[in-house]
Amino acid sequence: MKIDILTLFSNAFSYLDESIIKKAKDKNLIEINISNIRDYSLDKHKKCDDYPFGGGAGMLMSVQPIYDAIKAVKKRNSVLIFPSPKGKVFSHQDAKELATKKHLIFICGHYEGVDERLFEFFEIKQYSIGDFVLTGGELPSMVMIDSIARQIKGVISNESLSEESFSNDLLEYPQYTRPAVFKGKKVPEVLLSGNHQEIAKWRKDMSKQITKQNRPDLIIDKTEERKK
Ligand SMILES: C[S@@+](CC[C@H](N)C(=O)[O-])C[C@H]1O[C@@H](n2cnc3c(N)ncnc32)[C@H](O)[C@@H]1O
Repeated sequence: MKIDILTLFSNAFSYLDESIIKKAKDKNLIEINISNIRDYSLDKHKKCDDYPFGGGAGMLMSVQPIYDAIKAVKKRNSVLIFPSPKGKVFSHQDAKELATKKHLIFICGHYEGVDERLFEFFEIKQYSIGDFVLTGGELPSMVMIDSIARQIKGVISNESLSEESFSNDLLEYPQYTRPAVFKGKKVPEVLLSGNHQEIAKWRKDMSKQITKQNRPDLIIDKTEERKK
């Protein structure tokens, strides 16, 4: 998969050179290119923002530099993504679906956002990463890229993915590693028993318990879906 990131703040993306994403890049499973939107500004001072028409607080990213930055990287099969608090809340399912695409373009908003005409020129999916407001689209883009990358074949083992939170409408069970006793706190006995059936049952029960406690909406949503 190829990912293009269009941003005014290229330095924000060093996280994508770490850990699993770095390994995925090294294995050529993902290619990530970062372009600075400012390079596309036709303004003689390379200005990329301006005051909103009608007044109001802050500055807005101008349409021209982003339009030209998109035109420079967009292909026929590209999926354009704009992180926005006004978008649909990004989910595990969205990450899985986007992981099947060949080319993603992330457009990072900043300041008060972008000139709305951008969405008239291009078909752009808008995703929110939660009901709060961040300074820019750089962190949300990285959050989405990270979760999409994990779903690309070969990046993470299938076994890890199948047991994870949200993979089957439940949150993951608690996990422990060595030592079996730390400062008097013991690992649950069943995990040391070697009885795989009992371990699987304990994990399923714990998953249900944690989901009911922390995210009852996941269980209710499923029941509602079945009723439809
Ligand atoms: C300060 S925010 C603009 C908020 C906008 N004025 C509003 O009230 O909806 C600047 C940029 O950060 C990004 N952003 C902020 N919060 C976000 C969130 N929860 N999810 C995704 N992107 C977000 C978007 O790209 C947005 O254009």
